[in-house]
Amino acid sequence: MKAGVTGGIGRRAALSAGVALAVPGLPREGAATELPLRERARRKGLLFGAAARSFNLRDDPAYAAAFARECGVLVTEWEAKWGPLRPAREEFSFGAVDALWQFARRNGLGFRGHALVWHEHMPRWIAGMENRAARGILEEHIRRVLGHYRRAQSWDVVNEAIDVKDGRADGLRQTVWLRALGPSYVRDAFVLARVADPHTLLAYNDYGIEYEDRDSRAKRVAVLRLLETLKQQGAPVDIFGVQAHLNPARPFDPAALRGFLRTAAEMGLDIYITELDVHDRDLPADGARRDRIVAEHAQAWLEAALSEPRVKAVFTWGLSDRYNWRNEVDWSRRRDGLPSRGLPLDQDLQPKPFWTAIARALDGADPRGG
Ligand code: XIL
Repeated sequence: MKAGVTGGIGRRAALSAGVALAVPGLPREGAATELPLRERARRKGLLFGAAARSFNLRDDPAYAAAFARECGVLVTEWEAKWGPLRPAREEFSFGAVDALWQFARRNGLGFRGHALVWHEHMPRWIAGMENRAARGILEEHIRRVLGHYRRAQSWDVVNEAIDVKDGRADGLRQTVWLRALGPSYVRDAFVLARVADPHTLLAYNDYGIEYEDRDSRAKRVAVLRLLETLKQQGAPVDIFGVQAHLNPARPFDPAALRGFLRTAAEMGLDIYITELDVHDRDLPADGARRDRIVAEHAQAWLEAALSEPRVKAVFTWGLSDRYNWRNEVDWSRRRDGLPSRGLPLDQDLQPKPFWTAIARALDGADPRGG
């Protein structure tokens, strides 16, 4: 039995499915003994995972245990970005990502890398890169990184390449790579990645495409056009990653979301929900109320997304509010100083209504074929 798209989590439905313990309005004690999200996903032929940083897993055994329990895939939240990974042109700093890789191996998790090409968190030396050196630098980066981590579950090859506001007809964002290499850098990155590791799945990942406001709709058009162009060019793109940094204040239309995902699926792409969390900066301060709004919105959104059969994975951007990235980013932090509650586990690593919302959406999904 599925809760309605707008109706939130039905208490009776949750009880009958055995996930009652973290439902809003019900005591949450004992929820940790419930079936973990990774297993709920696995039963449907889906993947569930979350992003993490190596030092949190290293320094906090309880968090590491919760992570290994809930997740089937570990996503590199920070340390595989250029800034931390490539501190100097000649230097690859693999230590932290190696620790994530080993954690994943030890605990039987898949490993998902993020990201080979992105405009943010670039090392300072990139500003001095000569255009004619760019191709070699990018090529070396992709070759060395994918050579180091062979057979990862998947990689975000290109992250956030579209920004309609930059005013180009093709919608491409003005970045260091576009300036140095021209628009073909996106295709080239995928080709280089496929050569470097033919066994890892390759994703184009983007945000700002989850809702029905004007900006999102314009960005959807541009992203779909980019994917279409990549396909026509024969670029080896396997996955379309929809970040899904959700915001209950934005206009959501399940049918329109389904239509958008269907269009991408018809290009032969699998779709991953790659960075799910809920932006709760402007939600009520009261924890229980906030949790309920977060959960109801996330469940409605996820149910719509999972109704597209080519959606094959759900990854959250962090697992617990104990290490919630939104508390660290100025534009995302709450003005009342309260910590974000936008991730599935609370600061005590206990499942919140958001956890139950994901559980319900996974339980309600049709099994994936193949
Ligand atoms: C965030 C990380 O969570 C932070 O730790 C870091 O300071 C900034 O980046 N979209 C993305 C992610 O693709 O890489 C971002 O991650 C969140 C938004």
